[in-house]
Amino acid sequence: MRYLMSALALAILVAPVYAGDLCQANPFTALQAQQGREDYESSCGLCHLYNLKGRVPGNSRNEWPDIRLLNADYLKTLDGNGGMTPPLLGEAFFRKWKDVRVFADRISSAIGAFPPKHYVKPASDARIAAYILYKNCGRL
Ligand code: HEC
Repeated sequence: MRYLMSALALAILVAPVYAGDLCQANPFTALQAQQGREDYESSCGLCHLYNLKGRVPGNSRNEWPDIRLLNADYLKTLDGNGGMTPPLLGEAFFRKWKDVRVFADRISSAIGAFPPKHYVKPASDARIAAYILYKNCGRL
């Protein structure tokens, strides 16, 4: 019990301050978040990067994964947005979400446009939302 309490205290300490509310309201399991990584990297990550920080025009040589992995549709979307994709990590992104349900709904609507490989609704939606949430909460 004592160990559990200190593990919890640590988890709260390492979560970025801005992310407090949503991290505490987190309805997802660590397993969902871990599994979500594969879903994320099979689609979202191609545009938003594996580190979730988003593509910046003219910086593709320093970004991962290689931009050449994007298919023609994905490249068209990227070009249509001036070569940038917003970050899905950090204060500017995470502060937008006051409510975990609104956050999860926004992730689901993004998935509608770019479904991951082996898409299974609603399990994949929950896993991707879990992955992004855990990353922002410093728990993955
Ligand atoms: C083809 C490139 C591409 C892929 C793949 C992609 N996105 Fe995006 N995403 C964008 C672009 C460009 C925007 C900014 C324009 C917009 O909001 O539609 C965006 C916006 C978003 C936003 C809004 C961010 C904000 O700050 O409000 C979220 C959330 C998001 N994407 C999540 C995802 C998720 C989750 C996936 C995977 C299922 C995904 N995206 C796949 C290109 C992509």
